[in-house]
Amino acid sequence: MKAFILAKSFVKDLLPPFLVRQIQKLLFITATHRLHGFDLHLNLPDRRILESVIIPYFAKLDEFDKILFVGCDWYTKPYQKYFRKKDYWTIEIQPEKRKYGAKKHIVDAIENLSNYFVDGYFDLIIFTGVFGHGLNSRDATEEAFNQCFKCLRPGGVLVFGWNDIPELTPFPVTEECHNFKKFSPYFFAPLSGSRYVVGDQWKHTFIFCTKP
Ligand SMILES: C[S@@+](CC[C@H](N)C(=O)[O-])C[C@H]1O[C@@H](n2cnc3c(N)ncnc32)[C@H](O)[C@@H]1O
Repeated sequence: MKAFILAKSFVKDLLPPFLVRQIQKLLFITATHRLHGFDLHLNLPDRRILESVIIPYFAKLDEFDKILFVGCDWYTKPYQKYFRKKDYWTIEIQPEKRKYGAKKHIVDAIENLSNYFVDGYFDLIIFTGVFGHGLNSRDATEEAFNQCFKCLRPGGVLVFGWNDIPELTPFPVTEECHNFKKFSPYFFAPLSGSRYVVGDQWKHTFIFCTKP
């Protein structure tokens, strides 16, 4: 191991800095990306749970037809395919990320969701990776849950996910957010409960809840 580290540092000193940066970039991409069919996916533990357990479960059930996915990035682009038989929507605050969203895409904040949909429209809202990644204030987070509650049908499901580590958790969201507490736990059978903590360094946590 020591020999490997020494060799690595020797090679690093020999190569021009731009080439070292390119190689590091390539190594990072190899470690965090994976090909699935023709699509590139993010290769992280929480993403694998989302893509191989959570999304397929809801995609195959007819009672979940009207679906909203909150927040888009390059790795959410293939989700349109998973939900191709559904009335699938995305919402993302940054206009330039429209290209990663569904055909039915809204450029706006989740806090304004009810400007676009009647009450009770959605059967399922997947709201992961947004809290702590732009949605940070208490007021905005309260409003985001308020809007999800308003736009979900009774019996509809909210999947809320965030990285539960101090650096990425603006405040103890599930304990302190009043509008989150309007939801009831939903037993998500494939993961045997209503809360699932991914065993990774980010402690990505999924909460499954329903509108009573
Ligand atoms: C880390 S990415 C996560 C993408 C995706 N939700 C996922 O995890 O699969 C966070 C995205 O949420 C978006 N975002 C942040 N605050 C938002 C808000 N209030 N409403 C909608 N999107 C928001 C950001 O612009 C960013 O593209």
